[in-house]
Amino acid sequence: MIIKVLDKKTPEALLVPLIQDEQLSARLELIAQRAGVDASLLQQDFKADSKEIFVLYAGNAPMRRLYLLGLGKKAGFPEVQAAFRAFSHRFKQKLPLRVGIDLRDLPADLIPRLSEAAVCGMLLGLYQIGLFQSDREQKPAPQFGSSRSQLDLLVAPELQESVGKAIHRAEVFAEASVAIFDLMNTPGNYKKPQQVSDLVLALAEKHEFSASVLDKTALEKIGMGALLGVGQGSVNPPALLVLEYGARPRKQKRPVLGLVGKGVTFDTGGISIKPSGNMQYMKSDLGGAAAVIGAFMVIARLQLPIRLVAAIPLAENMPDAAAIKPGDVLRSFSGKTIEVTDTDAEGRLILADALSFLIDREKCDVLIDLATLTGSIIRAIGTQAAGLFSSNELLIERLRSVGANCGERLWPMPMWEEYGSDLKSDVADLRNFTGKPMAESISAAKFLEHFTAKHPAWAHLDIAGTAFGDSEFATTKSGTAFGVRLLVEFAEQMHEHFGA
Ligand code: BES
Ligand code: MN
Ligand code: ZN
Repeated sequence: MIIKVLDKKTPEALLVPLIQDEQLSARLELIAQRAGVDASLLQQDFKADSKEIFVLYAGNAPMRRLYLLGLGKKAGFPEVQAAFRAFSHRFKQKLPLRVGIDLRDLPADLIPRLSEAAVCGMLLGLYQIGLFQSDREQKPAPQFGSSRSQLDLLVAPELQESVGKAIHRAEVFAEASVAIFDLMNTPGNYKKPQQVSDLVLALAEKHEFSASVLDKTALEKIGMGALLGVGQGSVNPPALLVLEYGARPRKQKRPVLGLVGKGVTFDTGGISIKPSGNMQYMKSDLGGAAAVIGAFMVIARLQLPIRLVAAIPLAENMPDAAAIKPGDVLRSFSGKTIEVTDTDAEGRLILADALSFLIDREKCDVLIDLATLTGSIIRAIGTQAAGLFSSNELLIERLRSVGANCGERLWPMPMWEEYGSDLKSDVADLRNFTGKPMAESISAAKFLEHFTAKHPAWAHLDIAGTAFGDSEFATTKSGTAFGVRLLVEFAEQMHEHFGA
């Protein structure tokens, strides 16, 4: 699709986003007048509620459709993206080859940011789930969205340059998000650790960041006993992906951001096996890895002036004769020994090795891990936010603010010392599960802290409730790409507070 900025020239289908504010009625009056329809009826029937869509056929201009799109009361980035995404998803089959969006009525200072949200929403709404449906090829592809189609953004001439940049950003984010949706929605038998590594190597080449893989033999050599332990029950061996973008800072200062993402390609629970109801959702247990991969795709494309490094542990958690058993002791990469009291608390084991590996290898100004780590965070705060665990107040504040602004909300959780006391083991340095059914997302974070304690700016994000959820694309749950925008937008402003 070609996306252009224009100042007039209205195509045959024009989308007009409208905020539910005091000016709505005056705006509708003008629209009604121009289209030659009754103003008072329009004012009665269209309230600009969030995602409300109203189609007008202009009486005075043949073959023109006007789509009024409600944004609700507060039109920030997340609201605008959601409204446009819902619109393009619903109308994609009906839209003509050329569609325009009239942004001229939005507050001028917000137009570049909101045009990014609008374009990103339009592109994401075209996403097709159903990777393995045999009629996928046969379905008539909507003409809007094809390479011949065009999206025009109508803005005042003085805003054309900044909106042009916003369009590019939207395209980069949309491409990465779609790749992450696919990775999350792919079934477990098509995304074994080796297949995920191959995918990331290909993405690295295309997006120009570097990627290397430590296979099982390499992991044995460096002593990654926790990651190896989790993977040992599977015929598909574990691996560690190491990603890098941007030169090491020398004289010219560049902040360094370190990322770790949980990449459990399927989590059966292992010998501490999960109940079978809804176990299929555990193909989503690489949501942290997916967010990190997506962030690399975007940051490398946008050429952000930072250095970005990541360690992504990949493993399949299976019950098997060779699998780890409750009570087994693993020797982690850090040297600390861990008693595995529950094989279903596998995420923290593989994260422990990846975190200490990254800390060992690189001096990061900020270190963030993301993981679909606990059901407990879903019980605590649901699907509206991810749990944020850190002892660095400034980092908490910055991450929360970036998240709120882009619609990937974070909510801070306590990290008091007492929460860690139940992790003592009688046979090893620590155990991976307290044995108590309470505050499990917090004790998981306290477990990770044992492997990051020396890092002054570390945050752990428990994205179990946000990485995979309800959407317009699917009847059940599907990948959300939660974390990609959060990480990129944090990276864009991190030099103001960290490193450099
Ligand atoms: N991958 C799960 C957490 C999860 C649950 C993610 C639901 C998404 C949706 C994780 O490995 C797990 O099994 N956690 C256990 C921890 C427990 C054994 C301490 C849990 O949350 O029950
Ligand atoms: Mn588990
Ligand atoms: Zn898991």
